[in-house]
Amino acid sequence: MEDGAPARLSERSSVVLEGDELPKSKATKPDLQMSGITAGPVEDYLYSMLPPRDEVLTKMEDEAAKRKIPIVGPAVGRILHRLALMTGAKTVFEMGSAIGYSTIWWARAVGEGGLVFYTDGDRKNAEEARGYFEKAGVASRINMTTGDALEVLSEHKQEFDIIFNDVDKEDYPRVFRLALPRLRKGGLFVTDNVLWSGRVAQKSPKEASTKAILEFNRLLYSSPDLFTTILPIRDGVAVAVKK
Ligand SMILES: C[S@@+](CC[C@H](N)C(=O)[O-])C[C@H]1O[C@@H](n2cnc3c(N)ncnc32)[C@H](O)[C@@H]1O
Repeated sequence: MEDGAPARLSERSSVVLEGDELPKSKATKPDLQMSGITAGPVEDYLYSMLPPRDEVLTKMEDEAAKRKIPIVGPAVGRILHRLALMTGAKTVFEMGSAIGYSTIWWARAVGEGGLVFYTDGDRKNAEEARGYFEKAGVASRINMTTGDALEVLSEHKQEFDIIFNDVDKEDYPRVFRLALPRLRKGGLFVTDNVLWSGRVAQKSPKEASTKAILEFNRLLYSSPDLFTTILPIRDGVAVAVKK
């Protein structure tokens, strides 16, 4: 942990695991699991219970681990999927899709007739993602655009059932302002990395990304139009319902 890291993390770990020798973390996929929020052994336990994924998602997870692509991973993927199913979402606008791992979790939840908008600034990511979408049999449910996700969202005049934000962290406050008007009432504004490996609890954060996330989280919780919850899984997932 960096300078100014929260004492709370270690305090909490010692409470949860009181009296026990901490087993060594087996975190074999640190990019998927992310240390710093949940005690390593607890995180290992959570991941050890996840049912295996199909061939396409497994291949993507392996590629992501090998090439250090920061995908949400299976624990968060399952949450995204379930959120869409629980709310009957048919349209999902995803900001920052990379190789399309989270996109596939969404696409499987919206079902036939549903549509997920993939956006990423990197053409190579989009090419790779297209291959996975075809293999997963969900290509017809995905609308792909390469470019700045904030601009692409501004160009859309429709309202979405879910907006998922996973772009560069410095842009989060701007995403907040753009996304709210594009979300239907009762829709979900979902954002990854809102705990930023615990850096949100630093006493004097210096990084622009940390400051932007802090500002973003403040906006989420203070908005009269949203009901926000942060799930402290992996790197923190904010789920805000539009009232
Ligand atoms: C964390 S990764 C996305 C991972 C993906 N959501 C998943 O879990 O499978 C972030 C991606 O967002 C893209 N990105 C960052 N800022 C962006 C922007 N303003 N517009 C479009 N793409 C952006 C990057 O190219 C990168 O591929």
